[in-house]
Amino acid sequence: MERIASLDELPDEGTFVFRVRDEDGVDEAILTRTNGDIHAWINRCQHWTDVRLDDGDGAMLRNGEIVCEKHGAYFETDTGYCNYGPCEGSRLPTVDVEVHDGEAYLDDEGYDFVGTGSMDDGDDVPQGTRGGDDFEL
Ligand code: FES
Repeated sequence: MERIASLDELPDEGTFVFRVRDEDGVDEAILTRTNGDIHAWINRCQHWTDVRLDDGDGAMLRNGEIVCEKHGAYFETDTGYCNYGPCEGSRLPTVDVEVHDGEAYLDDEGYDFVGTGSMDDGDDVPQGTRGGDDFEL
């Protein structure tokens, strides 16, 4: 397991951004806290999966839910479930994490830890596909 961050580093009303690598390259993930439980999600909206949920400094939370900055989809911080917006019914891809002694660790065989913070606008962003285009914007 690789250490991501101390839980003290998680903002109360926001998310903590870190980077992971899988067979497709480096991607961004976010740590969230829900009633003391820590979860992590790949930082890609499920409406347009080439769109990050945030502007680069962590996804916004509103009423305890992750909000996509692009078109305002809402995702539950503990399940990744989209309960409002153009991709309603979808789920954010999960990244498995463990907490020990106030520290969050990456515990996912599918990902290696790369570092904290957002990605540069680089070439290593895997391109996704867009879905839910039938939603009225
Ligand atoms: S890209 Fe996130 S709601 Fe459209």
